[in-house]
Amino acid sequence: MTRVLVLQGPNLNLLGTREPEIYGFETLDVIHAGLAEHAATLGLDVQFFQSNHEGALIDRLHQRDFDVAIVNAAGLTHTSVALRDALLAIQRPFVEVHLSDPSKREAFRHVNFLHDIAFRTIVGLGPLGYRLALDAIAERFRVGGES
Ligand code: DQA
Repeated sequence: MTRVLVLQGPNLNLLGTREPEIYGFETLDVIHAGLAEHAATLGLDVQFFQSNHEGALIDRLHQRDFDVAIVNAAGLTHTSVALRDALLAIQRPFVEVHLSDPSKREAFRHVNFLHDIAFRTIVGLGPLGYRLALDAIAERFRVGGES
């Protein structure tokens, strides 16, 4: 069974109350519960990890106990060479997800250290983006279909 790690960066633990006009009212737990259900229907094994600490996110990636990741690096997307290096080092494909569309927001969010190394980027769709990321992974990892 394909093992998926959903990696959530800083401040995403506050979803539901954090700037809901941008990020919506769903909590991270509710989003994750929906994803776990969807993953089961797709035959994917999914685990979740959120941290507000860059090093903790990197340490989690270093465990390499997954085949593919869904990464919302949040603010670290726009700043972290170290997270980019970790994603390259572990040699696992990943889908980049953002609830909002950073390219339509402040200029500092237009800098993105992950975009060119992700195999898919999904932005601006709210929590649906994670679900579509699971679909993209199921498609890519279909038996005999890994590319
Ligand atoms: C975000 C977008 C980032 O710019 C921001 O720092 C976040 C959330 C998103 O999901 O839209 O924390 O990654």
